[in-house]
Amino acid sequence: MAFFTIVLAAGEGTRMRSTRAKVAHELLGKPLIRWVVDAAKSAESDAVITVVGHAREQVIPLIENDTIVVVQEQRLGTGHAIMIARETLLEQEQKSLGQTRETREHKTQEPEAREDGRAASLVVLCGDTPLITAQTIATLAASQQEDGAAACVLTHILDDPTGYGRIIRDEKDALVRIVEEKDATPAERAVKECNSGAYCFDLAILLENVRELDKNNAQGEYYLTDIIEKLVAKGLPVTAHLTDAEQTQGINSRAQLAQATKAMQRRVNATHLDAGVTMLDPELVWIGPDVSLEHDVEILPLTFLNGTTRVARGSVLGPNTRVTDCVIGKDCQVEESVLVEAVLEDGVSCGPRAYLRPGTVMKAGSKAGTHVEIKNSTVGPGSKVPHLSYLGDTQLGEDVNIGAGAITCNYDGFSKNQTTIGDRSFIGSDTMLVAPVTVGSDTVTGAGSVITDDVPDGALAVERTRQHIVKGWAREHVKKKTRGREMKSSRMRKKEKPQ
Ligand code: UD1
Ligand code: CA
Repeated sequence: MAFFTIVLAAGEGTRMRSTRAKVAHELLGKPLIRWVVDAAKSAESDAVITVVGHAREQVIPLIENDTIVVVQEQRLGTGHAIMIARETLLEQEQKSLGQTRETREHKTQEPEAREDGRAASLVVLCGDTPLITAQTIATLAASQQEDGAAACVLTHILDDPTGYGRIIRDEKDALVRIVEEKDATPAERAVKECNSGAYCFDLAILLENVRELDKNNAQGEYYLTDIIEKLVAKGLPVTAHLTDAEQTQGINSRAQLAQATKAMQRRVNATHLDAGVTMLDPELVWIGPDVSLEHDVEILPLTFLNGTTRVARGSVLGPNTRVTDCVIGKDCQVEESVLVEAVLEDGVSCGPRAYLRPGTVMKAGSKAGTHVEIKNSTVGPGSKVPHLSYLGDTQLGEDVNIGAGAITCNYDGFSKNQTTIGDRSFIGSDTMLVAPVTVGSDTVTGAGSVITDDVPDGALAVERTRQHIVKGWAREHVKKKTRGREMKSSRMRKKEKPQ
């Protein structure tokens, strides 16, 4: 059943003690407000409207592509946030009826019933409750619509309900009003059923009644929650839908952000475990919401998989590894490494302690070993870069071996230059490849050479002075050292003797 969603996110979030807007803070790499908007979208909400205010220059870029943004200049409360979105909500309502605004203006300022006889519904969510699921949003909307309720309030029960509005019910257990903690009597404060801050309203009824809200309360705000009492007084049906408290947990502090991260980590990891991913300790693995893993992937502790990373079956990642926006093929090994925007084909081995930066492509069966850094380079099939190398802006052919400590000198202080190395070449240890330079196929470079000129196919390139031998020099040197040491210690002994 169709419904719209409005996400309230204009508030300040002072308890975060941050220069960053509260809803722009990230949970498993995704901004809080995006979790809420994405949940509404997966619940198939028709249009999502976001109300922004405080630090909106940080918030708007996160949501402007797929929500209708309304700015609340003055934050006068949750009821006020709905009031200022009124025109936008009416427009959406009209669009859904398939009418243009012009034709509607001749008729009435209020929303109308749909052709199917149902009024449009509006789900209200808070931008700082990232744990709410699409399933709960859909159930909340369905519950309001099926009951024909003017409003359905999403509630939860907490042993310590501090900070939340309380759900007040009559002797027949019917919801009669919501009281904010600051306005509650001690008896009302003892109530453990809380207002989650999420609701589904009959849109027309909401817009009609929201205008009647006042600020006569402890906080001097227009409380959206006061609507409930008004609807009940008019004899309109109001219902409540109970959910688990985890889903509606709001993020107001860093401690709550950490708790929510734990909860989301548990949820995401449970999904991957169910799908056949092995984790030695799921509490020590952090996987972003847009990461995809095939079955039989294994993840070792202290591993972070972020962004749009994809990993194919049989690959083992970790321990102590961070992978962001990478594509990893089948049966790869990535140990104690950092990989950013890199592509690993099947059977690649990486680490311990490799750093693969953006633009790295490791072809099938290739290797980037210990303390190896690679950026913007392709390592051909079966090629090995096993120890202590830096490759930048390099094209390696197949079955190339890069000796320990060999590096490309790709930057001359002005621009980045290319290095090309042909198939089956053997680059000696500690070779400096001064780019731009092309080394042909089936070549060898002598260890320690500084290669500044192109090397033709099949050639050996050596660049270093001949070794020089001075016979007996070292033996004499050692003798001199020993004699010196003996004289020093005999002087010391004399000094120490009592006179
Ligand atoms: C609100 C509810 C309370 C509920 C709690 C759940 C009211 C009056 N109270 O209280 O019953 O238990 O949420 O978390 O609604 N916002 C705006 N514009 C404003 C004011 C707030 O967009 O002018 C947004 C905030 O950014 C936030 C949401 O609305 O995302 C809730 O506002 P907040 O001030 O946190 O409400 P609470 O006092 O927590
Ligand atoms: Ca408040």
